[in-house]
Amino acid sequence: MASETEQHHAIDTMLLEERTYPPPPEFAKQANAQPDIYEQDFEAFWEREGRERLTWFEPFTKLYEWEPPFAKWYLGGKLNVSYNCLDRHVEQGRGDKVAYHWEGEPAGEQRAITYADLQREVATFANALKKLGVKKGTPVAIYMGMVPELPVAMLACTRIGAPHTVVFGGFSADSLSGRMNDMECEVLITQDEAWRRGTTVALKKTADEAMADAPGVRTCVVLRRTGNEVPMQEGRDVWWHDAIDGVGDDCPPEQMDSEDLLFLMYTSGTTAKPKGIIHTTAGYLCGVATTHHYIFDLKPETDVYWCAADIGWITGHSYIVYGPLCNGATSVMYEGTPDFPDKDRWWDIIERYGVTILYTAPTAIRSHMKWGPEYAQKHDLSSLRLLGSVGEPINPEAWIWYREHIGADSTPVVDTWWQTETGMIMITPLPGVTTLKPGSATKPFPGVDAGVFDEQGNEVGPGGGGYLVLKRPWPSMLRGIFKDPDRYKETYWSKYENVYFAGDGARIDRDADYWLLGRVDDVMNVAGHRISTIEVESALVDHQEVAEAAVCSRKDATTGEAIVAYVTLKGGKEGSVEKLAELRDHVAKKIGPIAKPANIVFTPELPKTRSGKIMRRLLRDVAENRPLGDTTTLADPTVVSEIQNRAQSEGTEES
Ligand code: WTA
Repeated sequence: MASETEQHHAIDTMLLEERTYPPPPEFAKQANAQPDIYEQDFEAFWEREGRERLTWFEPFTKLYEWEPPFAKWYLGGKLNVSYNCLDRHVEQGRGDKVAYHWEGEPAGEQRAITYADLQREVATFANALKKLGVKKGTPVAIYMGMVPELPVAMLACTRIGAPHTVVFGGFSADSLSGRMNDMECEVLITQDEAWRRGTTVALKKTADEAMADAPGVRTCVVLRRTGNEVPMQEGRDVWWHDAIDGVGDDCPPEQMDSEDLLFLMYTSGTTAKPKGIIHTTAGYLCGVATTHHYIFDLKPETDVYWCAADIGWITGHSYIVYGPLCNGATSVMYEGTPDFPDKDRWWDIIERYGVTILYTAPTAIRSHMKWGPEYAQKHDLSSLRLLGSVGEPINPEAWIWYREHIGADSTPVVDTWWQTETGMIMITPLPGVTTLKPGSATKPFPGVDAGVFDEQGNEVGPGGGGYLVLKRPWPSMLRGIFKDPDRYKETYWSKYENVYFAGDGARIDRDADYWLLGRVDDVMNVAGHRISTIEVESALVDHQEVAEAAVCSRKDATTGEAIVAYVTLKGGKEGSVEKLAELRDHVAKKIGPIAKPANIVFTPELPKTRSGKIMRRLLRDVAENRPLGDTTTLADPTVVSEIQNRAQSEGTEES
């Protein structure tokens, strides 16, 4: 939620940004993307990618159908995602190739899982799911950490045509049950506990709480990971190892329609209720595999690719699981945090596996910057040839640091803009083709038609700023919001006619390069995680002593944005340090620890307009210690100065 001042600051900085990095000639020569890729016609491009990148049981008969705002792609085609990600590689003699080098968090725990291994495990688990009554169309929830069985579970669902929703392991019981109820999940797959920074996260315990509120879940499959004891409910819970015991590994892949539901990914919007973003089979798979091939310049025979995200978010779905496996990549998958047991864990992993491509988020890069380059310097990172960034605007300093200290001052850095809704990367450099600028995501991907519009819907020219839009459908675009077509239309398609409104501010420079400026709505971006202000406000107001709450974000040097909450307690009660801790915990319990406010300011009143609307803009000014904007519309202007005083004396900060 970048404020106007912030956006102006960003614009000023970018206009001063004159450093450019043309593609290194050696890279350009061997690159998957060549300059003529931009010359291809949109339809010819996606037609060819669809035919050549995927294997079809029945070929599609029509490229796409566009009845705004509803799109269909690759109509008439039949295919299976797990077949494309596994079997065809095995059939083509690449079964012994490693799909995942899995690195557990506890030191020394490793597994190399080949395509043949993965195919067998997926087919076996798919058969186990079938035995548990899962059929084509049965909705399945998955709540796991970064263990190999997570992609196994996802792929097993795709094999039998059961749509999944993966819920990030850091989410609360309420968040999990809310999603399971919305999707009407019948089965939940989880694990006893997950490792995190040497301690454990009680996933099964949280899952139990969630299932108490999600009566539709009749079966819960539990993977043993840490081995600590967890309660199992007779008749409902079954251990993963028991479920696969004696089950064969022959499971023919279900023939799915191009437009069959593949998965839902819930994401925060501008209301308290997360939206179930719909992704379907063929378009999604083609979009993620195509972008992965060109943007990461993947050479499946030689590259070791590492996307250091969590599979619980869209980045992990598209660029740890579906894109890389569809392309036959060898990936690294890491279970733990970057600072365990020490802050050089990532660099140690890169050295040991010879990682050639690394994809991560600016917030992680800024953490490494804060810790200092000496951790990276302890390791040989010379295998790296390409770096990527995603999730939030990357500031030029972080971009430069990343290239210099991780990329030996020579690797291209691709800053990739996209969203849960877009499914695939949309605005990005192509390494070997694009001249890079630190902080710019540069150009729309081939076959993507983007633009920047002003408030009235006029396209702004080079040098202009406004709202980022997408003007034509693309294969992996969301097909809607689950069970809520009106919200789908309202959120993305009502600002401009038949044009997708992304919710991000952007600017185009004289070279027609895009600069992303952050969200223009009530969505915050904290450490690359999307959180809505209203979601956090609802969680706070849910506490019995809270009368009212207003939430906004302020800038943070590491996490990009940090959450600030202004809270009025019932009965005119004053806040206390204990109350502050209690409220933060309450938000963690309602949503998840990622949504905990960094600061809470207790105040007897919130600044409101005469019509009773909370003026978040002013709260943001207070949160960032800025001179206050216009206060003339306030019902009671003294409220803000009171809040300012309190913010300075009471605001507590924690990371
Ligand atoms: C932001 C994550 C600037 C943006 C893949 C978008 C970015 C939201 C970038 C989507 C980037 C993502 N530069 N901003 N390279 N990448 N964003 O759905 O505000 O978790 O709307 O998808 O992240 O977040 P989501």
